[in-house]
Amino acid sequence: MAFSKQWLALREQSDHAARDAQLLTKAVEAAGENPVIVDLGSGTGSTVRALEPFLPEGAEWRLVDNDDSLLEVAGAELGDRASLHRLDISDLEKLPLENATLVTASALIDLVSRQWLENFVEKVQVPVYFALSYDGVMNWMPENSLDNSITQAFNNHQRSDKGFGSALGPDSVSVAEEVFKSAGFDVFTAPSSWQLGPAEEELQQALVQGIAEAALETGQQDAVFWAEIRTSQARETDCTIGHGDILALPKDFELGAQHAKT
Ligand SMILES: C[S@@+](CC[C@H](N)C(=O)[O-])C[C@H]1O[C@@H](n2cnc3c(N)ncnc32)[C@H](O)[C@@H]1O
Repeated sequence: MAFSKQWLALREQSDHAARDAQLLTKAVEAAGENPVIVDLGSGTGSTVRALEPFLPEGAEWRLVDNDDSLLEVAGAELGDRASLHRLDISDLEKLPLENATLVTASALIDLVSRQWLENFVEKVQVPVYFALSYDGVMNWMPENSLDNSITQAFNNHQRSDKGFGSALGPDSVSVAEEVFKSAGFDVFTAPSSWQLGPAEEELQQALVQGIAEAALETGQQDAVFWAEIRTSQARETDCTIGHGDILALPKDFELGAQHAKT
């Protein structure tokens, strides 16, 4: 499925504000003193921009995405700070994981299937930091009597196949927690919900359009009317869009140990 660079740019500020700061700090620490970070579904490099201020100089990034136009934007900004890998991540064998010290992703694991995640976890032996996965909860103020049915329709759409089999959608963080734990990882999770107000009117409007289109595809005809109201009210609306972050550390991985050894 395609994501436009305009949409990714529009959401980036709210994404960065929503990331759980403690988990981000732990992820940076887990990457070690000479970080080699593989970012899956990198888009234009939002995760690089979120983490780079906290990383030691010279961190190596490998950005993986199947959309050339997004990688091109990332490459133009990051130059030789990142290598670009145009790959379909459903083919796990091709992921450039060699010598990686951290694997990251943002707004990605709600798209993948349980099977993909289980296969991925079998393959990975380093810390994994997945941020900003949609968790199925949306709250709007002022409320609208259609909010719940639209959320339900949108969540059903989130569970449809996004190229990996049935998507985890709203269950992604809880399923990832379960899968990593049963593979022996230590797992930390934290909420990272978007808090949007009138200042994010443009993002709200684009979000409402996206939600309504998805809901309509599931047969929820009221989505058009709901979108008209929500779009016209965006300047007076506050909303919370639930997301979650997860950090999984391989068994016996000690945060800070890399620093102690050098
Ligand atoms: C919601 S966007 C998030 C982008 C970026 N991580 C961010 O936070 O701005 C999901 C990204 O995953 C990529 N993607 C989706 N399916 C993919 C696949 N099968 N292989 C590689 N990348 C994929 C999309 O092209 C897109 O860049």
